Amino acid sequence: MKIVFFALFLLATLQYGDAFKCYDDDYILDYCEGSCYNSTTKRGNNQSIFKTSCWPDSVRTKCVENTTADGSYIKNCYCNYAGCNGGRVTTVALPLIIVAFASNQFI
Ligand SMILES: *[C@@H]1O[C@H](CO)[C@@H](O)[C@H](O)[C@H]1NC(C)=O
Ligand SMILES: *[C@@H]1O[C@H](CO)[C@@H](O)[C@H](O)[C@H]1NC(C)=O
Ligand SMILES: *[C@@H]1O[C@H](CO)[C@@H](O)[C@H](O)[C@H]1NC(C)=O
Repeated sequence: MKIVFFALFLLATLQYGDAFKCYDDDYILDYCEGSCYNSTTKRGNNQSIFKTSCWPDSVRTKCVENTTADGSYIKNCYCNYAGCNGGRVTTVALPLIIVAFASNQFI
């Protein structure tokens, strides 16, 4: 019985450890059980489309670049830690969160 509990506990912690947050389609941090993923697509008219998402499978951290026959350039990046698929740094929000957290601690 003890072993079963231990195994369940281990499984639970392992699964917890596997899930981390990625930026999803709406650029909101959400739990992801595969890898974080982002893709940049550049059309011939230089219009650049950036998309963030959760990839359902676990993929080794890497970027794959490709150019399609119609001249579109596609770059897909996979990575494996929380929030890593978002390059846009929230310069305003982060200090605010830290200030809010700090004042919560001391007031
Ligand atoms: C796309 O960008 C390249 C280099 O920045 C530029 O030379 C080209 O004229 C641009 N094309 C269009 C359609 O804007
Ligand atoms: C690039 O795209 C072509 C056509 O879509 C595909 O056949 C090829 O496997 C892709 N290469 C990589 C490295 O993803
Ligand atoms: C996409 O994700 C990679 C990590 O795999 C990150 O280095 C890069 O900054 C991201 N791209 C953008 C445009 O946010």
